Amino acid sequence: MEPHNSSFLWALIIIFMLNINISSVQGLGFNWGTRASHPLSPNIVVKLMKDNGFNKVKLFEAEPWVLDALRNSGIQVMLGIPNDFLAPLASGVSIAENWVTKNVSAYVSRGVDIRYVAVGNEPFLTTYKDMFTNATLPAVQNIQAALIKAGLGRQVKVTVPLNADVYQSDSSVPSEGNFRPDIHDLMISIVKFLSDNGAPLTINIYPFLSLYADPHFPIDFAFFAGTNAPVVDGSVSYTNVFDANYDTLVWALEKNGFSSMPIIVGEIGWPTDGDVNANIQYARKFNQGLFNRIIQGQGTPKRKTPPDVYLFGLIDEDTKSIQPGNFERHWGVFNYDGTVKYKLDLGSNRTLVPAKGVRYLPRQWCVLAPDASENDPNLVDSINYACTYADCTSLGYGSTCGGLDARSNASYAFNKYFQMSNQQKGSCNFNNLSVITRIEPTTGKANCKYEIMIDLGKHKKARSPPTSSTATGWRSQNLSCYVMAVFLLSLIIGRVA
Ligand SMILES: *[C@@H]1O[C@H](CO)[C@@H](O)[C@H](O)[C@H]1NC(C)=O
Ligand SMILES: *[C@@H]1O[C@H](CO)[C@@H](O)[C@H](O)[C@H]1NC(C)=O
Ligand SMILES: *[C@@H]1O[C@H](CO)[C@@H](O)[C@H](O)[C@H]1NC(C)=O
Ligand SMILES: *[C@@H]1O[C@H](CO)[C@@H](O)[C@H](O)[C@H]1NC(C)=O
Ligand SMILES: *[C@@H]1O[C@H](CO)[C@@H](O)[C@H](O)[C@H]1NC(C)=O
Ligand SMILES: *[C@@H]1O[C@H](CO)[C@@H](O)[C@H](O)[C@H]1NC(C)=O
Repeated sequence: MEPHNSSFLWALIIIFMLNINISSVQGLGFNWGTRASHPLSPNIVVKLMKDNGFNKVKLFEAEPWVLDALRNSGIQVMLGIPNDFLAPLASGVSIAENWVTKNVSAYVSRGVDIRYVAVGNEPFLTTYKDMFTNATLPAVQNIQAALIKAGLGRQVKVTVPLNADVYQSDSSVPSEGNFRPDIHDLMISIVKFLSDNGAPLTINIYPFLSLYADPHFPIDFAFFAGTNAPVVDGSVSYTNVFDANYDTLVWALEKNGFSSMPIIVGEIGWPTDGDVNANIQYARKFNQGLFNRIIQGQGTPKRKTPPDVYLFGLIDEDTKSIQPGNFERHWGVFNYDGTVKYKLDLGSNRTLVPAKGVRYLPRQWCVLAPDASENDPNLVDSINYACTYADCTSLGYGSTCGGLDARSNASYAFNKYFQMSNQQKGSCNFNNLSVITRIEPTTGKANCKYEIMIDLGKHKKARSPPTSSTATGWRSQNLSCYVMAVFLLSLIIGRVA
């Protein structure tokens, strides 16, 4: 009996450990942004997440059509509040109570598993010129009070997603980390309030933007595969910028008396198009490196417990503002239609699976007419017109459709416009330079395709179309690039010295 018992016990322990492993794989979160001209049906997206074992999602605002699809899905939700709401929410607890009643309680009671309310989105970016600085903490406090009043104080935690520019290291190493001087005291107040309420701090970290901001950034330091020139901080060698950045925050927290403050990584990822460094190869390398850490439950040198991570993002969004760069519309692990961009190993022999049940518009394309001349005086204006309304970010230098010949270039733009317009009558008429074809055209470039849009059918009318430039979807990264660049420059200088 004895040996049998102990082997049984061992089996249990092993099963238990396997379970932990599996559940940590499934503990992967995604940001689900909806700034798309032809968004997938929310039910298809929810199924996509479930099929892939993603059980956490971060939303940028409370959209009924999205929240409804998450009912009884088993997916945990971090629900965002746009920055524009901060001032009203700060102005009185009754407005916060109303927000919580309508946007949290109503959905929780209908089976949406809301775990966090994310108040604001990177409200302290310096590009916002202190527009949201004063309102953020009072808004957080009022939402917290409203959650308690609604009886959700235990179940739903409040947090604030911040850009990694809220902390910095003046010298070269993470252990010199502290909060940005202009918001230092405010950060302490916020962290204290979150800590008192058992709530986490949420931080967005973007190694891609370090590279985007500084062409001399050592590229291997952006990934998780090691580097032959690590940043040495006392006894620790940092081999990737994620660890160095995250630990700078851990040091900043520790220095101010919050060494065990829980941290969530609210956004992290790598885009696949719209810049020379935004490609499938790099995106796969970065995200696979990140997934492997999550699967293995790996933390950073300073904090061994891994943070909860929400990847940015789930699906490409073709109407996001491109102010930060053309790459903004290409952060998805999935294409606009839920097809898989690249293979990712999710552990336990699983790889990404695509969305099911997607309906497309008819198989027809709008292209440059065979008899049209590429020197036609109207051609440039026609392309510009198409690209003003449709997404041509893939045509730029270093992008998937960059460097097409003039004819393919024109066809690409025309087709984008035609598809964007739901192939409507009259939307393939560029000064008589275009024709509709039912034979699939090819561009001659491997990753550059003439796409067909999603058939929005009925659900298009169920929501108002997203506007592309409101504060929620627009994560201005100018400043963060800059601060990140300065920080990294100091790291690099540090290693040279
Ligand atoms: C709920 O959230 C949505 C989206 O952010 C917003 O438009 C709406 O005003 C909110 N409802 C209330 C009652 O504040
Ligand atoms: C924030 O509050 C401070 C102190 O009350 C005030 O001096 C400052 O003008 C406010 N900033 C903004 C942008 O409203
Ligand atoms: C993974 O898949 C391979 C090939 O299909 C199989 O041989 C192996 O046993 C699988 N491993 C696990 C852990 O399921
Ligand atoms: C292709 O179109 C883009 C977008 O209008 C334009 O910037 C680019 O110069 C064009 N390239 C060629 C080769 O015509
Ligand atoms: C397009 O072609 C039609 C028929 O040939 C002609 O009537 C029309 O004027 C043309 N439009 C333009 C803008 O060239
Ligand atoms: C971002 O930087 C670009 C180029 O430096 C500039 O044109 C643009 O106005 C900046 N955007 C913001 C929001 O600061």
